[in-house]
Amino acid sequence: MHPDISSVLISEEQLRVRVKELAAQISADYQGKHPLFVCILKGAVVFFSDLFRAMKIDCTCDFLGACSYGADTCSSGRVDLYKDVTEQIKGRDVIVVEDIYDTGITLDFVKTHLQSKQPASLSVCVLLDKPARRKPGIDVRPEYVGFTIDPYFVVGYGLDCDQEYRHLPYIGIKK
Ligand code: IMP
Ligand code: MG
Repeated sequence: MHPDISSVLISEEQLRVRVKELAAQISADYQGKHPLFVCILKGAVVFFSDLFRAMKIDCTCDFLGACSYGADTCSSGRVDLYKDVTEQIKGRDVIVVEDIYDTGITLDFVKTHLQSKQPASLSVCVLLDKPARRKPGIDVRPEYVGFTIDPYFVVGYGLDCDQEYRHLPYIGIKK
């Protein structure tokens, strides 16, 4: 285990199994459709690549760069959109893929932003949900949730602390 990690919260094996389940569920729900996955950079990249590869129906992808965290472990409370999607969203069945639903500020912003581009439908898939951290008034209700966790600060499988630890193959609690 990495020396900066106190314990593994979600193992590689647990991630592998759950991501496959999510892909199977999304594939069934979107049968006969051709969804566009929008991966939120950078934290969702590792989760997205496993989820996307496990999809059983034809689908396409795009990337949106948004961040609400600075170098700290606490949300800055505002979202910076540094890269917009390039695919046409209008009329598409869009599935937003995000690493974590924490305060909800990022997902709330991203949903409003994509909704303004008039998709045929818009759903949200998050790997992790930290309900205890929700900002009052925010109610995104992701359609797909990998794991609901206690309000630890976690890293690995795409999640960072000051840009580090994204490569770890498990989700761990930072010391
Ligand atoms: P929110 O806007 O507060 O919901 O935060 C969402 C973003 O904050 C995510 O996309 C993550 O990049 C980051 N974040 C929230 N919690 C954690 C964590 O425990 N570890 C690493 N990044 C986190
Ligand atoms: Mg992020």
